[in-house]
Amino acid sequence: MAPRTCLAIVLAAGEGKRMRSAMPKVLHAIAGRSLLAHVLAAIAEAGVTTTAVVVGPGDDAVAAEAARVLPGAECFVQRARRGTADAVLAAKPAIARRRPDDVLIAYGDTPLIRSATLTRLRAPLAAGAAVAVLAFRPSDPAGYGRLIVADGELVAIREEADASAGERAIGLCNGGLMALAGAQALAILERIGDHNRKGEFYLTDAVEVARRMRLRAVAVEVEEDEVRGINTKRQLTEAEAVAQQRLRAAALDAGVTLIAPETVFLSADTTFGKDVVVEPYVVFGGNVTVEDGAVIHSFSHLAGAHIGKGASVGPFARLRPGTRLGAGARIGNFVEIKEAVIEAGAKANHLSYIGDALVGANANVGAGTITCNFDGSDKHRTTIGKDAFIGSNSALVAPVEVGAAAYIGTGSVITENVPAGALALARGRQIVKEGWATRLRALKSLGKKKALLRD
Ligand code: UD1
Ligand code: MG
Repeated sequence: MAPRTCLAIVLAAGEGKRMRSAMPKVLHAIAGRSLLAHVLAAIAEAGVTTTAVVVGPGDDAVAAEAARVLPGAECFVQRARRGTADAVLAAKPAIARRRPDDVLIAYGDTPLIRSATLTRLRAPLAAGAAVAVLAFRPSDPAGYGRLIVADGELVAIREEADASAGERAIGLCNGGLMALAGAQALAILERIGDHNRKGEFYLTDAVEVARRMRLRAVAVEVEEDEVRGINTKRQLTEAEAVAQQRLRAAALDAGVTLIAPETVFLSADTTFGKDVVVEPYVVFGGNVTVEDGAVIHSFSHLAGAHIGKGASVGPFARLRPGTRLGAGARIGNFVEIKEAVIEAGAKANHLSYIGDALVGANANVGAGTITCNFDGSDKHRTTIGKDAFIGSNSALVAPVEVGAAAYIGTGSVITENVPAGALALARGRQIVKEGWATRLRALKSLGKKKALLRD
C-alpha cells in the first residue's frame, strides 16, 4: 500500500503582544532556531508531503522565514483573526488542490513537538478515525480546552470560557495539534460555527461536528513539554531549557563527553563526531560542526565554525562564522577567528585576531598577532603560507601574503608581501647605551638628572 499523503497546516498568525517585542512571536528563537523553524523541522522529519503556513496580514517576515526553512512551503494569509478553524480554512485551496489523505494542523508557537508524535497523531486516521486530537494533562489546566471523553471516544472539546464547572474539573486538555481525515476535512471545517463566548470559529468544534456526521474522533496523549505553547518571554526561556536538555541528552547519547552538560549551550543544528570532549561553559551558536576527537575547552563561544579532527579550541576562544579549523589545529586562549581557514596542524595559541585569512598547514601564529583586515571601509585578506612563523605581537596589514616557511620577526608591522623562506623585520632597531642607567642613578643622587635625560 502506498504511504498516506499528508498536508500539514501551520498556524503562524498573530503578533504575540505578550512577548513585548517588535518581532512576530514565531520568529523568536530557542536553541538558535526560530519557533516556526522548529515546527517546520519536526513536520519535515515526520515525512509530511506538503506544508502550508498561515500568516497574518503583513507578516512578510514570517512568510520569508517559512520559505527559507522549507522552500516548498506555501503561504496563506488569514485576513482577519476569526478563530483557529477560520485560520485553517485560509489554507483551503491547498486542501482542495492536494486532496491529501491526512491534514495535520500544528501551531507555530508550539516548537517542542517531536516528529514521532506527529506520526502518532496521524495513526488513528489510517485506522478510520476522522479527527485525532493531541491531548495532555497539564500541571495547571487553566486556559486550555478540556477533552470530554466517553467510552474511549472523544465526544467534545470545551473551551474554558464556555465550560461548566464540572467540565473545568477535567484534567485532560487539548494540546492544540490535530489531525483530520483529508476526505472529510473541508466538510468538517466548513460546518464549524461561531456560537460561543468569543464569537470565534473554534477548530476544537471539529470533534462535535465530526460526531454529528457519524465520524469518529480520538485523543492521543503526550507529555506536557511537547505541547508547551509560547506567549511570553518567560515561556520562551522555559522552552529553551527543555530544548537544551534534549540536545544535551542527544549529544551524550551520541557519545560526546560533556563534563558539565548543564553549562553547555547547544544549537538545534550543532553536530558532533566521535570522542569529542566539551569542557564546562561552552556556547555553540548556529551552524557548528565538530569532528572526531576535537576538544573544546571552557568558556569558548563558537558560531558558524567547522572544527577538524583532533583540533583543540580554547579556553576562552571565540570562533565566528566562516572559521574552518583543519585536523589537529590549535586555537588557544583569547584568540578570535572570523572567516578564516586554519589548515591542519597550524597554531594560534594566545591573544590573536585572525580575520579574512588563510593560515597554511603547520604555521605558527605568535601571541598577540593581528590581521589588520579592515581599512575603515573595505575588508582585505591575509594569506600565511604553510610552515610560516609569525613572531609575537605582529600586525599583518591586509591585503598581504606571507610565503611558505617565511619568518616574521617579533613586533613587526608587515605591509608588504614576504617571499617564501624569507625573514621580514619591520620594527625600530634596538639602541643600547652602555652604562646609561648607572650614570642616571649617580646623577640623580647629585640632583642633576636632567643633564643625562637630554643625552
Ligand atoms: C487553543 C485551543 C485550546 C487549546 C490551546 C492549546 C481553540 C479554539 N482552542 O486555545 O483548546 O487547549 O489552543 O494551546 O483552538 N490563530 C490564528 N488565527 C486565529 C486564531 C488563532 O492563526 O484567528 C493561531 C494562533 O496564532 C496560535 C493558534 O492559532 O498559533 C492557537 O490560538 P490561540 O489564540 O493561542 O488559542 P488558545 O486560546 O491558546
Ligand atoms: Mg495559545
